[in-house]
Amino acid sequence: MTERNTTIADHRYAARVPTVPEQPLAPTGKLRDARGRLLHDLRISVTDRCNFRCTYCMPKSVFGKDYAFLPQASLLSFEEIARLVRIFVGHGVEKIRLTGGEPLLRKDIERLVAMLCAIPTWRGAPLEITLTTNGSLLARKARALRDAGLRRVTVSLDALDDRVFRAMNDADFPVSDVLDGIDAAQRAGLAPVKVNMVVRRGVNDHEILPMARHFRGSPHVLRFIEFMDVGASNGWRMDEVLPSTEVLARIGEHFPVAPADPNYAGEVARRWRYLDGGGEIGVISSVTQPFCGGCTRARLSTEGRLYTCLFADSGHDLRALLRSGHSDEQISGALALLWGRRDDRYSEIRSSATASLRRIEMSYIGG
Ligand code: GTP
Ligand code: 5AD
Ligand code: SF4
Ligand code: SF4
Repeated sequence: MTERNTTIADHRYAARVPTVPEQPLAPTGKLRDARGRLLHDLRISVTDRCNFRCTYCMPKSVFGKDYAFLPQASLLSFEEIARLVRIFVGHGVEKIRLTGGEPLLRKDIERLVAMLCAIPTWRGAPLEITLTTNGSLLARKARALRDAGLRRVTVSLDALDDRVFRAMNDADFPVSDVLDGIDAAQRAGLAPVKVNMVVRRGVNDHEILPMARHFRGSPHVLRFIEFMDVGASNGWRMDEVLPSTEVLARIGEHFPVAPADPNYAGEVARRWRYLDGGGEIGVISSVTQPFCGGCTRARLSTEGRLYTCLFADSGHDLRALLRSGHSDEQISGALALLWGRRDDRYSEIRSSATASLRRIEMSYIGG
């Protein structure tokens, strides 16, 4: 990788070096933002690369052969990630989700899982560690991930029909690889496996019922996600969003469902269960019923930038602090300052005017 490419890839998105407070700010395990929201979840992107080219996430026209992915030296090392996680835990983080790009492409990812499992939460309990994957490498990796201490996985799967699936991932991956990956994860104990389907009207909405039928009665939990306007390269249009109410109506016509209580406060998915005992489904209505009010999620990019919203236009360069000799106390103080100022609620203020704003890509920051 040339230096020029390094520079371009590192400066793709704006990032500020966070302010380090002059006086130490002791962590309390319950840091709140400007809207009173705790810092509970940290989603860590471990690579910006992916072996799929989902048309709504990494279209080939943008992510082609010449695309400059981040060079190795830019990536946070596992040791740097673990150090940051210890700092985040001091402020109340109890749940970690590893994402990408495709996180299973990061070499020795199970070593990172094992390192993170050794970190207790503020209250002394184990951290909940999960991972979102496209499933293509899961059959090979499930056992090692479980042995390293991973609790669960979420697998993205947008269609059951092989032709539709190959067209959507645009990399000719067969659906059977992903289904094998889901089975392997279940066998390895990474359960329950959650299956995420992004629904795009006119593209894969005819797959809603086949997907529901397939996963009904299985231990897996299928969730339908409204297509969001993340990034600037996915050609989002409001008329391609199929509201969750319509997803539920279509399923309910064949298999009656009733609402179920959330598993925990602030759960992103609304749960529904089949009345005949066929298990549960979930809907994630980020466009039609935003859930910013309970958003306790921070996102860390592959090269160590912190984003306080999925729709942020700029991040906070924590790597700069890590690599310039700042102490844990100083970085912890910087984090307290920046989370304390957080005011994001993009999904609540989305409009035709916000659609053209600059923002980070989903493949860069993960779901
Ligand atoms: P679990 O309950 O542990 O399974 O986690 P989760 O419900 O957060 O699920 P997951 O991480 O799989 O998120 C599912 C999808 O919801 C993501 O792929 C996004 O499309 C969407 N999503 C998750 N978090 C946010 C968020 O903070 N904002 C918005 N707008 N969408 C989100
Ligand atoms: N809208 C909704 N969900 C998306 N994902 C990626 N792009 C979008 C989008 N535009 C989901 C993927 C996967 C997770 C990483 O994010 O399907 O489940
Ligand atoms: Fe890769 Fe997931 Fe994006 Fe598809 S949605 S291109 S699998 S990161
Ligand atoms: Fe959180 Fe931003 Fe998503 Fe709202 S739009 S739920 S603030 S990440």
